Amino acid sequence: MGGFLRFAAMFLLLLVVLGLGFYGWASASSSRSLARTFDSHAVDFPVPYPLAAEEVEALSLSEAEADQLALARALERGEHLIRARYGCTHCHGHDFGGGVMVDAFPLGTLLGPNLTSGEGGVVATYSAADWDRAVRHGILPDGRPAVMPSEDFLLMSDQELSDIIVYIRSMPPVDNSVRPSRLGPLGKVLMATGQLQLSADLIGIHDSDHLFVPPPATVSVAFGRHLGGVCTGCHSMTLAGGPVAGGDPSWPPASNLTPHADGLAGWNYADFRTAMLESRRPDGTEIGTPMTFMTPSVQAMTATELEALWVFLQSLEPRPTPR
Ligand code: HEC
Ligand code: HEC
Repeated sequence: MGGFLRFAAMFLLLLVVLGLGFYGWASASSSRSLARTFDSHAVDFPVPYPLAAEEVEALSLSEAEADQLALARALERGEHLIRARYGCTHCHGHDFGGGVMVDAFPLGTLLGPNLTSGEGGVVATYSAADWDRAVRHGILPDGRPAVMPSEDFLLMSDQELSDIIVYIRSMPPVDNSVRPSRLGPLGKVLMATGQLQLSADLIGIHDSDHLFVPPPATVSVAFGRHLGGVCTGCHSMTLAGGPVAGGDPSWPPASNLTPHADGLAGWNYADFRTAMLESRRPDGTEIGTPMTFMTPSVQAMTATELEALWVFLQSLEPRPTPR
């Protein structure tokens, strides 16, 4: 009996030592991942985008009038992009004064920094190139990776990013110092074992050109593919669904959105519209979290945007859901 107890105690001690050793490795490995620096291109684009010369002439605008109209249009487009597509406010706060991406022990505390010109704001000295790196590449101005889902924003054109900057700059200053993001023990283990990947690694290539302007807003596969960039973060790059990488373990797998029997084969546009706007499938079952996080954005989409998404999804190669 005494021998067994001693054996059990030794075994437990061994487990604790191994556990601590593994955690020590995971902690060091995730710190190393976050301390790396990434090289990327330096792009430049106007903020706001000016009107085309032909339009200024056709409307016979003075220079000041043309600047004013360009600014008003950029603001309007920027607001729509943020509401209907990119959800920056989910993590950076409704007033852009800072917000929460994840605050869950043991995963970690990942906070969206303050993007206004108030105290604690971090973008005061940002150039267009810095905005590009942070938003479309997941790289901070000093070259370190940002813990933000920039792969969702990779297809964003220069003009769309410029419009978003104009909108963010129009927000009143908010004084709020947001604590730096920190991974908890589980977050460190997930990162060390490759379950939680940094956008800068997922994107991989940081010097390929971006679109200057988005495809024309028509019901077309090209425009739909452009809009569908924000679906890939959860539904995977092929849109054939599967477990949501880096998501909350309690979430269901993302649905297959390709026209495969595992996916949307047999659906028509009305079915898709109802699913997107009312979270209901053709068989009447409810669509739940985290898809419902998308509902406010989907409700802000134009009819053209929603239909273009559908036309694009229908054009995909049918694929089975990966297991
Ligand atoms: C899912 C949550 C989430 C969304 C959506 C999101 N962000 Fe972020 N963002 C973060 C977090 C968290 C950080 C801090 C990253 C870090 O410090 O590692 C960050 C960092 C940034 C930074 C870098 C700030 C700095 O420290 O220099 C900028 C700029 C930025 N975000 C802009 C945007 C814009 C613009 C959008 C919308 C197109 C957006 N973000 C959408 C979570 C998010
Ligand atoms: C935050 C992660 C996330 C994002 C972003 C997201 N989805 Fe989903 N979506 C899911 C998950 C998870 C499900 C499955 C929900 C369930 O089973 O209750 C789902 C379900 C769906 C369904 C229901 C299909 C079915 O039969 O189950 C459709 C349609 C859909 N998503 C379309 C889209 C489109 C289009 C986009 C981009 C505009 C998008 N989703 C973006 C996570 C996401």
